[in-house]
Amino acid sequence: MCSQLWFLTDRRIREEYPQVQILRALRQRCSEQDVRFRAVFMDQIAVTVIGGHLGLQLNQKALTTFPDVVVVRVSTPSVQSDSDITVLRHLEKLGCRLVNRPQSILNCINKFWTFQELAGHGVPMPDTFSYGGHEDFSKMIDEAEPLGYPVVVKSTRGHQGKAVFLARDKHHLSDICHLVRHDVPYLFQKYVKESHGKDIRVVVVGGQVIGSMLRCSTDGRMQSNCSLGGVGVMCPLTEQGKQLAIQVSNILGMDFCGIDLLIMDDGSFVVCEANANVGFLAFDQACNLDVGGIIADYTMSLLPNRQTGKMAVLPGLSSPREKKEPDGCASAQGVADSPYTINNGSTSSESEPELGEARDSSANTVGGPSPHASRAWIQH
Ligand SMILES: Nc1ncnc2c1ncn2[C@@H]1O[C@H](COP(=O)(O)OP(=O)(O)O)[C@@H](O)[C@H]1O
Ligand SMILES: [Mg+2]
Repeated sequence: MCSQLWFLTDRRIREEYPQVQILRALRQRCSEQDVRFRAVFMDQIAVTVIGGHLGLQLNQKALTTFPDVVVVRVSTPSVQSDSDITVLRHLEKLGCRLVNRPQSILNCINKFWTFQELAGHGVPMPDTFSYGGHEDFSKMIDEAEPLGYPVVVKSTRGHQGKAVFLARDKHHLSDICHLVRHDVPYLFQKYVKESHGKDIRVVVVGGQVIGSMLRCSTDGRMQSNCSLGGVGVMCPLTEQGKQLAIQVSNILGMDFCGIDLLIMDDGSFVVCEANANVGFLAFDQACNLDVGGIIADYTMSLLPNRQTGKMAVLPGLSSPREKKEPDGCASAQGVADSPYTINNGSTSSESEPELGEARDSSANTVGGPSPHASRAWIQH
């Protein structure tokens, strides 16, 4: 019986995040290890309940076997709990091991939800206020007064530093109130002055810190995001920083994530946010790592019968349940009807451009050497 692994992603994020690196690394490992691999877009899936039983359709065809492990990349700013999360929950209920799990993704899609999860665990975080109704921004201007000024304001669904700003005073907030979009709530957060323009991005995979990068803005602004022109350099993290990042990852139940830490004057840290759909191109470059490869190695270790004594399974994280359906695996090399199926180690021509990959014959050789060091995650 051979294992089956899916890479499930969303057409909306193909340009913004390094999906292709993960796709390529997964495909290569599956090819080498006789694992059936399939890359699937969210909109190819239909979920069913027929005769009281859960079912799954892919491209209008009912499946009889389900993947053991599904690597999920969904756009956290736009993920919909009534559609995307429904599919993820369904896969989980069918016995698939999702990486990351839907509950963990939910813990990160809204910055205030992240803080709700972390609260009560002794995790240092800046004081933060938010509200229920979409229109209550102006009401919060008074209620958030205890946070003092300047105050940090963020869309709870923002990303890449685009919906974060530093409000000078109450008048500034009142002026902005009429300009900001009110379709999602905002949060008001204590300004960590000493971290202005800098923070630490920590990438955690399988409950272990695989690297950390100091990010600094280059134009004086508060946000240090690389997508806004911030510059990242590898920097060693103190033991407190590492333990904090691991604690946050564990509480949120993440398999892989990027944790942003704000830096205090005394060298300690407070948590800024956690990213389930972590981008890692700048990180790979700064830290000379291959995060896509590390995520792929970790994922492969979750396949049935591959868990070694060395693997540190996170609290609450487990391997896939025994599959209920018979596995009709006829060939170790894939499923004939998928345009994304591997075939003798090579890829069908449609798959990579669909996922936003520029065709570059020198760099894109499937199974070719990585430009960066790929470290097996279990070695750390
Ligand atoms: N409370 C704060 N005090 C100081 N700087 C902050 C604060 N919150 C965020 N920042 C800066 O703004 C950046 C973006 O904020 P973040 O919450 O990570 O939003 P995004 O999801 O858009 O990256 C952070 O990386 C950090 O540099
Ligand atoms: Mg951030």
